[in-house]
Amino acid sequence: MTRASASNIEWRTLGELDLGVSHDLAHGIAEWRDLKEILRQYGATRFGTCVEVGCGAGRLTSALAQDFQEIDALDVSPQRIAQVSGVPGAARIHPFLIDKPLIPVADNSADLCISTHVLQHVSDIKVVRAYFREMFRVLRPGGYIVVHVPVIGAHGFSGTLSRVAVLCLKEIARHFALLFLRPLMAIGVRSFPYISEYHIFEYGEIHEYLKRVGFWPIEMRFLSREGIHSYIFARKPEFPAIHLSSILYSTTGDVSC
Ligand SMILES: C[S@@+](CC[C@H](N)C(=O)[O-])C[C@H]1O[C@@H](n2cnc3c(N)ncnc32)[C@H](O)[C@@H]1O
Repeated sequence: MTRASASNIEWRTLGELDLGVSHDLAHGIAEWRDLKEILRQYGATRFGTCVEVGCGAGRLTSALAQDFQEIDALDVSPQRIAQVSGVPGAARIHPFLIDKPLIPVADNSADLCISTHVLQHVSDIKVVRAYFREMFRVLRPGGYIVVHVPVIGAHGFSGTLSRVAVLCLKEIARHFALLFLRPLMAIGVRSFPYISEYHIFEYGEIHEYLKRVGFWPIEMRFLSREGIHSYIFARKPEFPAIHLSSILYSTTGDVSC
């Protein structure tokens, strides 16, 4: 059983302080319009049930509620859950306060699982992988995931060697600073600089992991809006594909992402 991510501590604290999350509903509407257009290009036209992992203040959730009949909105912060309950379209939104990467939704029931600006802030890669497996479980065959994660070449991160080296150093510095700060946050200290984990993914690794989980096809798309943003689109096939690698890896337990 996958445990909760250590980074939940800072996201609950940031929720209390109302930091680290956008309330810009107009931005969410514009983003969903772009994402929906790509989903239409893939032939995805069913907008019944949607699961959003890390809904924040409902920036995107409210836009999703313009199309979906029901949205299950998950977050680790009680304040974010309260905020998402008050956005336009809230009657269609079912908020869930969660701790572990478990999606409280039945198997094969969702048309879309979406998560934007969340998984890069999760400190434990096992939690990221668990969310991918859970998304696969709850999606109906033919359903899609849309996951925004930063990769080199997007989000202002050029692929030049020196820039990548600086990013890696920053990522490590944040990680170690949080090892020190989390116990302080847990006992109620609130006077600390705004800081959260920020992991930049390697697309090839995510692609391989999603393929092993069973998603296909899998594609990364780059959208231009206040800079270049990278999103993974992947489908749960109508009929499960059998990859030789899945068989090999299933005998050796968990795989790296
Ligand atoms: C940067 S905000 C993004 C919010 C929203 N998705 C958006 O795009 O506006 C990250 C959100 O993810 C939530 N979060 C952090 N870790 C999480 C986890 N392990 N599971 C679910 N939500 C998480 C935080 O509480 C926060 O609301």
